[in-house]
Amino acid sequence: MPLALCASVPALIKTSFGVAMKKSDSRHIIKELREKINYHNYRYYVLDDPEISDAEFDKLMRQLENLEKESPELTTPDSPTQRVGPPPLNEFVPVKHSLPMLSLTNAMNEEEVKGFDQRIKKLLNTTEDIDYIAEPKVDGVAVELVYEQGRLTVGSTRGDGVIGEGVTQNLKTIRSIPLRLIGKERKIPELLEVRGEVYLGTEDFQELNRRREDEGEPLFANPRNAAAGSLRQLDSNITAQRPLDIFCHGIGRVIGISINTHVETLKAFDQWGLKVIPNIRICRNLEEIIHYYREMTERRDDLGYEIDGIVLKVNSLRLQDRLGTVSRSPRWAVAYKFEPKQETTRIKDIVVQVGRTGALTPVAIMEPVRVGGVEISRATLHNQDEINKKDIRIGDTVIVQRAGDVIPEVVKVIETKRTGEEKRFTIPELCPVCGAGVFRPEDEAVHRCLGLSCPAKLRETIKHFASKRAMDIDGLGDKLVAQLTDKGLIKDVADLYSLSKEDLIGLERMAEKSAQNLLEAIEKSKETTMERLLYALGIRHVGEHISKILTNNFKDMGSLINATEDKLTHTHGIGAKIAKSIVKFFEQKDNLRVIDRLKQAGLRYPKIKPRKENKLEGMTFVFTGALSSFTRDEAKRRVEELGGKAASAVSNSTTYVVTGENPGSKADKARTLGINIMTEDEFKKLIER
Ligand code: IVH
Repeated sequence: MPLALCASVPALIKTSFGVAMKKSDSRHIIKELREKINYHNYRYYVLDDPEISDAEFDKLMRQLENLEKESPELTTPDSPTQRVGPPPLNEFVPVKHSLPMLSLTNAMNEEEVKGFDQRIKKLLNTTEDIDYIAEPKVDGVAVELVYEQGRLTVGSTRGDGVIGEGVTQNLKTIRSIPLRLIGKERKIPELLEVRGEVYLGTEDFQELNRRREDEGEPLFANPRNAAAGSLRQLDSNITAQRPLDIFCHGIGRVIGISINTHVETLKAFDQWGLKVIPNIRICRNLEEIIHYYREMTERRDDLGYEIDGIVLKVNSLRLQDRLGTVSRSPRWAVAYKFEPKQETTRIKDIVVQVGRTGALTPVAIMEPVRVGGVEISRATLHNQDEINKKDIRIGDTVIVQRAGDVIPEVVKVIETKRTGEEKRFTIPELCPVCGAGVFRPEDEAVHRCLGLSCPAKLRETIKHFASKRAMDIDGLGDKLVAQLTDKGLIKDVADLYSLSKEDLIGLERMAEKSAQNLLEAIEKSKETTMERLLYALGIRHVGEHISKILTNNFKDMGSLINATEDKLTHTHGIGAKIAKSIVKFFEQKDNLRVIDRLKQAGLRYPKIKPRKENKLEGMTFVFTGALSSFTRDEAKRRVEELGGKAASAVSNSTTYVVTGENPGSKADKARTLGINIMTEDEFKKLIER
């Protein structure tokens, strides 16, 4: 029966709090929650001025998710819960733009801008100054968003200007794109086509490339490519992990409202909750335009996103109409481009830098040159593949470029300048910092140092070694690790076990008590397992799961150290790449020395840690909701230490479901299956008893 006919017999639904609630009530609550979430989303992502904490925001989202889970029929495509999640597409559907998405003609100097202004005046048959709107030209990916009755229905890329690719689901993952327009101050049009630029901020771009470098994935050449690559993912869950953003700068077709000027469009965008480019200005003559251009040239490196020029647009939409278009470009707008940030120089040498994760990066040392107002003498060459692809040699004359805050890079070699004296370069076989071997898996671009005690990555090695899931040394935070390594108190992980109280007390923010606690935590970590130690060594591709497999399949550490690649690959779950990585790691004499020193320091790492107590033997626990006295991992570890099992899903073999704050659907499932539920307090009492 349709819901509307049920008014006299309201449907009852159960909330996640177990209270029966009328369907009409939950419809109302859902509506209010969505409005609240949309508002706070807008404050955070569009205005950059949040009013509530992330935790409060997450709580609202969780409430909405729970209510929608209980009443799936009330979920709508414009609900904030629908930003992520659907399965990957096989291909993008083509989307025809109802009005073509044009491109801009370029002006490269003041003369050409003057020519633009004169042409416009001539076409409009006037000598009066024209009102122009000057905007930054954002270097991103052009997109169109279609809002029908205020709801985002279709999003597409520009494509060839006539037909683009339907990337609706990917665009929905961008938090600054409203799924529903706000309509408090201005009427929402029946139809609104918004044009804008999707971009990736410079810092986010660098972070993304750093992560890709760590993972051995190819790097994006610039933020624009990264934004395009992220937007053209068939799996929107990948797009959702990239912090894309948007600036809206124009309209396509509009039905149901009338707008007279471009400034009015931008104001309306603002009122509808669409993000507009900052630093837009009205310019009435050439001087004002040039002034704006110079100002933006100076500010471009500080904006946090890339711009490659300014755009000038005639403000009046009536005049824009009169001026019309010529060969796919409007006559009423022009892009006044910045000078390219490229220069020519010579590579004097190529050196290798070792990053904090052990990645070896070749760096070109160049004759100093000014690029876009900054003197540069080093440029990243990324990796050996890039060097080979561009055929970069020591002594080559090259074009270098600087984009925003991005590290300068070599664009290409000018081969005509070769003298025959140039020298080819290959990444060394030994780490230039510690002398350990260097390894590059076949399917990765990056070479990495294999040395466990390499100073270049010592901080990261120690942090990982001490982490919860590894040796679990409580109190060894980032700052402390930095002090210990900087002061030379630790040169490898085994040195942790010879630290004395005197060593520690001299350090910043290290009182007697905390020094004592740390030493106790270090001492406690000596009682570990082979599985944990293996994971703690940070062997590439050997995470917790692989460490467990290795522990289960090898008698002890010694037999693993001596295992051949062949033997390793015959172990179920160990592929050629992992096997090679393990063999290479144990081939390093220095790594074996450190493992030996760990043993001498008193580290015991049997396959299974002897259990002191087993009062939870035979019991399986599942945790749900936020715990206040433990992290999930700690709670699970306590259960395991006491002989019990911790599982992540509720099933008939679950003994207890432990509920923290805002328990999820697991508690409901437990009730359905008749499984005992205990509070966090009860759990604490049980384990402490
Ligand atoms: S207005 C006729 N304004 O630059 C096109 N475009 O070819 C009207 N762009 O693909 C575009 N920032 O996506 C306009 N402030 C801005 C812009 C901008 C970047 C892009 C646009 C277009 C390309 C020009």
